[in-house]
Amino acid sequence: MSQPTIESVLKEKRLFSPPAEFSQNAHIKSMEEYSQLYDKAKADPQQFWAELAEKELDWFEKWDTVLDWQPPFAKWFVGGKINISYNCLDRHLKTWRKNKAALIWEGEPGDSRTLTYAQLHREVCQMANVLKKLGVQKGDRVGIYMPMIPEAAIAMLACARIGAPHTVVFGGFSSEALKNRLLDAEAKLVITADGGFRKDKTVPLKQQVDLALANNGVPNVENVLVVQRTKEKIEMESGRDHWWHELQLTVSADCPAEPMDSEDMLFILYTSGTTGKPKGVVHTTGGYNLYSHMTLKWAFDIQDTDIFWCTADVGWITGHSYIVYGPLSNGATSLMYEGAPRKSNPGCFWDVVEKYGVNIFYTAPTAIRAFIKMGEELPKARDLSSLRLLGTVGEPINPEAWMWYQRVIGGDRCPIVDTWWQTETGGFMLTPLPGATQTKPGSCTFPFPGIIAEVVDLDGNPVADNQGGYLVIKHPWPGMMRTVYKNPERFRRTYWEHIAPKDGQYLYFAGDGARQDEDGYFWVMGRVDDVINISGHRLGTMEVESALVSHPAVAEAAVVGKPDEVKGEEVFAFVTLEGSYDPSDDLVNELKQHVIKEIGAIARPGEIRFTDAMPKTRSGKIMRRLLRNLASGQEVVGDTSTLEDRSVLEKLRGGV
Ligand code: WTA
Repeated sequence: MSQPTIESVLKEKRLFSPPAEFSQNAHIKSMEEYSQLYDKAKADPQQFWAELAEKELDWFEKWDTVLDWQPPFAKWFVGGKINISYNCLDRHLKTWRKNKAALIWEGEPGDSRTLTYAQLHREVCQMANVLKKLGVQKGDRVGIYMPMIPEAAIAMLACARIGAPHTVVFGGFSSEALKNRLLDAEAKLVITADGGFRKDKTVPLKQQVDLALANNGVPNVENVLVVQRTKEKIEMESGRDHWWHELQLTVSADCPAEPMDSEDMLFILYTSGTTGKPKGVVHTTGGYNLYSHMTLKWAFDIQDTDIFWCTADVGWITGHSYIVYGPLSNGATSLMYEGAPRKSNPGCFWDVVEKYGVNIFYTAPTAIRAFIKMGEELPKARDLSSLRLLGTVGEPINPEAWMWYQRVIGGDRCPIVDTWWQTETGGFMLTPLPGATQTKPGSCTFPFPGIIAEVVDLDGNPVADNQGGYLVIKHPWPGMMRTVYKNPERFRRTYWEHIAPKDGQYLYFAGDGARQDEDGYFWVMGRVDDVINISGHRLGTMEVESALVSHPAVAEAAVVGKPDEVKGEEVFAFVTLEGSYDPSDDLVNELKQHVIKEIGAIARPGEIRFTDAMPKTRSGKIMRRLLRNLASGQEVVGDTSTLEDRSVLEKLRGGV
């Protein structure tokens, strides 16, 4: 199955209306209601968000100013005092939700646990007290490197409770990648586990932490808190490493939530950009709380009776906003699953849906394409009738995968919300509201109320219907990232200076290309920068290139995305070798392993091609467009007149 092409989406005329019964019971029931909200927010964004902040969240102290906008730096609810852990936990304890399931967790080996709001609150308070005991203070950064177990959410909420910004590092990242992130964040403590279960194997997380911290590799880290999961034998360094289950017994379960300034940093989450070094995306407290809360409530129509399952890992923004903060702030039941479809149980997702009666299911197109490959028999063998709404995120979804998802998983009864957003945006930006919006397969439809989105050219001028252009956002929104950690200039440069400010208005540039059709529907076409999307995971091509050239055999590396049926894209690396090295299959494998060591398995090149030289312009820039063509086996198209040495291209072609 191919990725959506411009031609295929332009021909897409299928339109699906929300089922009447769904609309009747939804938070937002009709397109009229959506339009009213949208218009109201557009006319007076500050009033719109202030009303919601007042109504939906608990504040210790109200703000003085709704928005302080010094482009490109925004502050929301300035002067307000709030704590997101309080909004996710304490406030529900005063209601009937006290004994409602907050987290339902299913482990890969089949063990399970349910934590009510009262139980989750208790454990979060205990972990917060343990962190304090280990010297963590308000403002200190804490690294979290965890498998998908309840303690991952408990750790995040415990940090938020005492005002220590967390930086969650995806458990699939290598010790090298972990080390770089902990260094940049200057983390004081790391929360990890002995390991986790993943695809019938164990992942040795603590070992990776040991490697990252070896030889005083991350000088700021004083303590490591270790959760017991796999019970495999690990080294515990005396004085530095502490078992969570032991310290848990030594602290009280009373830990009042620290009143945080609305603009205090809640977390840093590293994400790939166009340079070799991932950026620390900074989110703050009040605005992020409101935005993750509202987007989940309206776009996923979360109701008190729902079990909501988001299949992301907490190491990504999707896990932050829609496994932990959004659902719990809403008092919803969030399901967390440790496992992934694997040889021993390819249908495990549908077992989980059936076992718990999941009502809302949120996953990525790459997973859907993998399900399609595995065949309809697996989902058909389970009772999926509890599902009432489906969601997708992470990359453009091809219309045929959308149709399959609707028919086979949704039984032609569930609306699909295709949510376009980013680590930087904190929550959904373009998304259907399922009781209101007519959907088109492959389109993320319209902006969330309060979001002004446009497709423009490089000068910031809107392009005509169905013309490709750059996706931009016009007005600040509460969930937007505030800066790049310790690098405000990089924030300005990366997001706000690509597209010329228009009429004095700064435009946020997302890095994606898009078009709007004649009905105003948005169609996101994918990244227009040097970021590739592998199974819905963002990866900078420069990051992989840096990893490759750190190997002694590599003189130069150029990485591009090659289209892949299931993963969306795959890493394709062109490599020139240092003089004394010769190309060989062994070297290919060695370089693949090297990339895994430097970044993690998600970055493993699918293919490495050795070349004597790279196709370069006369000014020395690698012509990536040519490499992309070559990698995908296409004819080299477009202008090649600026190529310095045409014979390079001939040779590379010969190699294909
Ligand atoms: C892509 C994930 C098309 C896009 C939440 C964006 C999408 C990047 C969609 C952000 C979608 C995400 N349709 N493309 N529904 N959702 N993307 O930061 O290229 O991991 O810029 O956040 O994923 O990836 P990130």
